[in-house]
This record gives sequence, structure tokens and C-alpha cells, in this order.
Amino acid sequence: MSRLVVVSNRVSLPSERAARAGGLAVAIREALDRHGGLWFGWSGETAESPDGHAATVTKGRIDYAVIDLTEAEFEGFYNGYANSTLWPLFHYRLGLVKFQRADFKTYLAVNARFAAALAPLLRPDDVVWIHDYQLLPLAGELRKLGVTNRIGFFLHIPLPGVDTLAVLPGLGTLMRGLIAADLIGFQTERDLQNFYDFVRQEASGTVHADGTVACFDRELEAGAFPIGIDAQGFAALAEKAVTQPDCVQLKEGLGTRKLMIAIDRLDYSKGIPNRFEACEELLRSHPEHRGRVDLVQIASPSRSEVASYRDLRREIDRLSGRVNSAFSELHWAPIRYLARTYPRKSLAGFCRIAQVGVVTPLRDGMNLVAKEYVAAQDPEDPGVLILSRFAGAAAQLSSALIVNPFDVDQCAEAMHRALTMPLAERKERWQAAMAVVGRSDVRTWWTSFTTRLRNADSRAGITPSRSLALRSD
Ligand code: G6P
Repeated sequence: MSRLVVVSNRVSLPSERAARAGGLAVAIREALDRHGGLWFGWSGETAESPDGHAATVTKGRIDYAVIDLTEAEFEGFYNGYANSTLWPLFHYRLGLVKFQRADFKTYLAVNARFAAALAPLLRPDDVVWIHDYQLLPLAGELRKLGVTNRIGFFLHIPLPGVDTLAVLPGLGTLMRGLIAADLIGFQTERDLQNFYDFVRQEASGTVHADGTVACFDRELEAGAFPIGIDAQGFAALAEKAVTQPDCVQLKEGLGTRKLMIAIDRLDYSKGIPNRFEACEELLRSHPEHRGRVDLVQIASPSRSEVASYRDLRREIDRLSGRVNSAFSELHWAPIRYLARTYPRKSLAGFCRIAQVGVVTPLRDGMNLVAKEYVAAQDPEDPGVLILSRFAGAAAQLSSALIVNPFDVDQCAEAMHRALTMPLAERKERWQAAMAVVGRSDVRTWWTSFTTRLRNADSRAGITPSRSLALRSD
């Protein structure tokens, strides 16, 4: 079978295996470990004048090829356009969007540099799979260099509706680059519909009855491919992890108190402040939980050079202080907020120990923590998942307690309900969720996307340099 070449901004190098990356790197690592292939992306390092060639290393079945960024590229591409423009916009946070033309230019230039470093490594029958919002125009850049390989693209984060997308200056440039792919994948049907709306309403394209798209003089395929986890592997990890020192310590510290666990990157899309307010409301409206439950929030620091992330950290510090000072007793504090990264194994154990998993992002492409929490449970005494309706996972995990994270009172009630839910109901809900998590696992995601990509009808014309306007251009 042809080799699979995965391209993502973040590459989980063999030396960094223990660290917890975002869901993207975890899923790609799990799939590549099994299937083998080449993983190309950013080294995670900056250098003064990086040469154009990728540094390569092979470990097991995976070849890694990575390039450094310059400090200016890191600033304009990563901190700037990717994480101060695209990330907030695609998570519906218009108030946080910053747009600077210079950053946009750097973003396009870094995509061109990725293409230039990758193209010489490609073999004629390689299948290329590009991941996420940092690399939206990469397929177009590869086509400009004459790459004719089959190219797929998967968006890990939500695709907002056209009204929101249209806010973005330069949208046409990005989408023309994206549409140079042969297959574009999204997390949910809703994201896919938003893409179709864009094609029809903004790009004057056509969506055929079979879901294929004619747009910018090309024909391509699109679909929803919800990302999953290695459910069996994570369940086994969680079962073993409870005897780990981290987990033993947590359990001993709890005594007879119940545990609500939340695990996130420290990101404003995750709804951490709303969650703390919900915990505050729980303790106010249901005083019987005072001294009887702990909310442990693990938040691994992320993108800390971006101002909105620094602001968030301050807000979370302030809020956790407010709730703790109002409700703590000499032997107990309601919120334990740990702004640090834990190994995957410890996190799996924490999930298994916790009676409640609180996954309440304001907006999320999928949220693999929701699936991991489900997989980690003891089938005989499972915990309860509280899940935001705005996480992609909610489209699949309908047996969770589904909440609107903006509605603090509703979230507090869901916490109360989860903490007091009878065993029979917990089992029933968990079994339904576990069936989905097991069925729609990382292998299904990987196989369904790559099979469809390999079979994608190559009707696509390669005309990336033609100027094809959007309605709004
Ligand atoms: C999310 C994004 C990924 C990103 C990850 C970690 O999962 O979808 O593309 O890699 O967060 O963020 P970072 O900025 O550290 O790569």
C-alpha cells in the first residue's frame, strides 16, 4: 500500500512521548504507531536562520521530518495569525480576534516553506494528509510546486458558519489553498454543513447530491469523520494507573469525598471560568455538598505568549481564589486548580477515580477528554460525564448529561444530579456512551478517512494560480 505522509504543525517527537500534547498529536501518534508512515511538521523549536531542509529521524514504524521556525515566524504564524486570528474566530470568539496583515503574510510564507521542505521528500505514490487550521493553505502551496499526489485535509477544530467566517480578511486566499485538496474532513455534520454553506453562498460553488463539491474550478470530496481514541488501550491504562503514586496520593487526599475531574489545555475555549462559577453555584444552592466534593481542574499551560491566554490565566486564578475563600474549611477547599501537565497515565487514573467528569467547553471541535473519561470508567461503578452541547463529542455522546456551559445554574444542577445519580442510571448511561466510544475509535477515524482519500475520485483540476473570487472579495 502507498505510504501515508501526515503533516501537522505540532509533531509529537519520540523524545516527547510522555508529555501530554493536544488531542491532535495524541490521535495521530496512536494511528501512526500502528500503520507507520512519515510525520512532517514543526520541530517546536526556533532557530536564527533555519536551513530549508527538514531534520529526519526514524523510530519504530514512523519517520519524522521537522523544520524549525525563526523567532519572527513563531510570532507571526503561531502566536499571531494561527492563534490570535484563526483560533478565536473558528471558536466563535469574535471579540478576541486580532488581525494584522503582516501576520497573515507570515502565515502564508510559513505554509509555503512547509511545502518547499516537504515536496522533495514525497514519493510519487505517497498519500498526503494535512491536519488543522495552522495549515489551511498548504495543499495549494504543494500544488504550486507541482505536487500531484492525493492530498487530504482534516480540520480538528470547528468550522464556523458563513457569517462568522466572512469576517476574516483574506478568506478567499485561505479557502482556495484548502480546496486544492482532494478530500476535506470535519469533526461533525454541523461543520460539514457550514463548509457546504460556504461553498454555495460565498464561493458560488455547487454541492452535489452525493456530497462532492465543485468549487474554484475543482471537484473534491468532503465528509464528517469524528475523531476517536484508542478506547481499549485507554481503559487498560486507566485500570492499571490507579496504583500509580499520583493516583494513590489523590485518592488518599480525598478520603470519603467525591471527585469531579476536569482536564484541559489552559484555553479560553474550554470554559474553565464558567465551570468554576458552576461549582460555586453548586455549593451555594446545594450546601449538602460542602466538604463532600472536590473539583480538581488540571489545566496544562498553553500558548502563554498570547495575551488572551495570559488574561485567562489571571481570570482563573482570581475565580478559584474567590470560590475557595468563600467555601473552604480548615480541612477542605472545593477547587484544586493545577496549572501543569501530567503524564497520560496519571490522567487516565484520575479519570477512573473521579465520580464526575466535567467537560464543558464553550466550543470544541470534538474534545477527546470526554471520550477518555468514558473509556476510563469501571464498568461496575461508572462515573457520570457532564458534557457541553458545544463540544463535537456531544453529537455522539447523547447519554451524557448535556449542558449549555453558558448557563451556570444548569451546570450546577447537572453537577448535583451527577453526584447523586443512582448506580443503575449511571451504568445505563455509561454503557451507551462506551458503545459509541468503542465503535467510533481512533482506528475507525483513521481508516475511514484514509480509505476515502485513497479512493477519492481524481477529477480535480489543478489550477491554484487562477484568480477565483469569493462573493465578498
Ligand atoms: C488543539 C489543536 C491542535 C494543537 C493543539 C495543541 O488540539 O486543534 O492543532 O496542536 O490544540 O496546541 P498547540 O498550540 O500547543 O499546538
